[in-house]
Amino acid sequence: MTNLRLARPESASLDVDALVVGVVNDDSAVRLAPGAEVVDQALDGSLVAALTGLGATGKPGEVTKVPTFGKLAAPVVVAVGLGDSYDDEALRRAAGAALRSLAGSSSVAVLLPAATDEAVAAVASGALLGNYSYLNYRTGNGHKQPVAEVTVVSEADADDAMRRAEVLAESVTLVRDLVNTPPSDLNPEIFAETAGRVGEKAGLSVEILDENALVDGGYGGIAGVGQGSVNPPRLVRLGYRHPEAAKTVAFVGKGITFDSGGLSLKPADSMDWMKSDMGGAAAVLGALKAIAKLAPTVNVVGYLAIAENMPSGTAQRPSDVITIYGGKTVEVLNTDAEGRLVLADALVRAGEDEPDLIVDVATLTGAQLVALGTRISGVMANDDDVREKVVSAATRAGEAAWPMPLPDDLRKGLDSAVADIANISGDRWGGMLVAGVFLQEFVPDGVRWAHIDIAGPAFHKGEPYGYTAKGGTGAAVRTLVQVAEDVAAGAL
Ligand code: BES
Ligand code: MN
Ligand code: ZN
Repeated sequence: MTNLRLARPESASLDVDALVVGVVNDDSAVRLAPGAEVVDQALDGSLVAALTGLGATGKPGEVTKVPTFGKLAAPVVVAVGLGDSYDDEALRRAAGAALRSLAGSSSVAVLLPAATDEAVAAVASGALLGNYSYLNYRTGNGHKQPVAEVTVVSEADADDAMRRAEVLAESVTLVRDLVNTPPSDLNPEIFAETAGRVGEKAGLSVEILDENALVDGGYGGIAGVGQGSVNPPRLVRLGYRHPEAAKTVAFVGKGITFDSGGLSLKPADSMDWMKSDMGGAAAVLGALKAIAKLAPTVNVVGYLAIAENMPSGTAQRPSDVITIYGGKTVEVLNTDAEGRLVLADALVRAGEDEPDLIVDVATLTGAQLVALGTRISGVMANDDDVREKVVSAATRAGEAAWPMPLPDDLRKGLDSAVADIANISGDRWGGMLVAGVFLQEFVPDGVRWAHIDIAGPAFHKGEPYGYTAKGGTGAAVRTLVQVAEDVAAGAL
């Protein structure tokens, strides 16, 4: 993990490998953002001219490196574009882009415009997340290591905000690592054990149901999806309690360690990123780990519904009927609609914790990508107020999310000829909403519930940008922590 420090401008050691400053785009010319003055003075006021000469414009994500020719202890100044604003997300992305461009250096000081606690937290988390790279399977010395020491320079007394940013970044990093791990090395058993280990270390209560306990306990969704794999399924429950808590929140995550589609096999180009299909469960784990450290006044339980969806002689068949925990039956018409089956068991089970709110997170539908693209999560709920507040929590946490409806009329398409409900609809359209309507059937009566579809946002296939690397993104961790804090504050 990166060594992170906060220093005041006067006491900051600028004897580092690189100094990061902000630049903005003003009337199509590049201008220095506040914080850069000390650096500019040491360079005899030549920084803007140098940047202009190098073609810098200040647009978001642009990184321009300027040598200091011995005028500063640091050999290079890195000017990162903020666009036309200093809002928290602009700071986070700029810090991320700067740190990513500095992989291989050992120490970096970041002098971005961060006057408030929130702005310092944004710079710190952007820097930590932009500094991420997944090197576990790289051999040789050809791969640049992340920066070891990052100093955020600010006037603000923002130690608590820094700590919160660090805790969140640590959890996002955990989730990215888990998502990036090849599915051969993160099968359900390993994922559950890892979750148990992380949970115990964080001081959470841990309960793990293995395949026998799942079958005996009547968890037909998780057992059914998992039965086609030689790697048997798991259900993990993590618990955080606060002695003065007035409310309980339950988080439920989809944990398909690999989604081949099962006998309803996916085509090859849809399958190669399906190691990310456990991103929801990983986000629940990451959130619980962060919550244990931040200690909000609320009780939180997390369920990780874990299975590997494989085709085989023991796999579920399209038209099999399974019984979800609690007794409802489902006709499995398409084995690739497996996420909703494992989530159904966990949603019903979560009711036993008598939660005031349930939020599930899942890489649930390709239709989410069609509707909202790769970067914006879809939020559905059985309560308008909950939906708005979960979207608001996501936005405040720096994660893009958008409200989506659960139209009643879509339920009809899920009618089964033989069971209580089918797992796919006869209707072609609105697949993200159909999945939400299916899940809603398993939400315990009278419990407020939101569903976040992170199919696109959980995994980034494109070129890195801002603080987002290729691969696992850690989507929804920050949102879930914000939700828990909002419930603790009586705001949700
Ligand atoms: N894990 C997939 C959804 C997915 C697709 C996540 C792309 C991330 C990227 C899910 O299990 C799935 O296969 N859903 C099907 C449902 C369909 C059969 C009703 C889908 O969306 O095609
Ligand atoms: Mn699937
Ligand atoms: Zn899936």
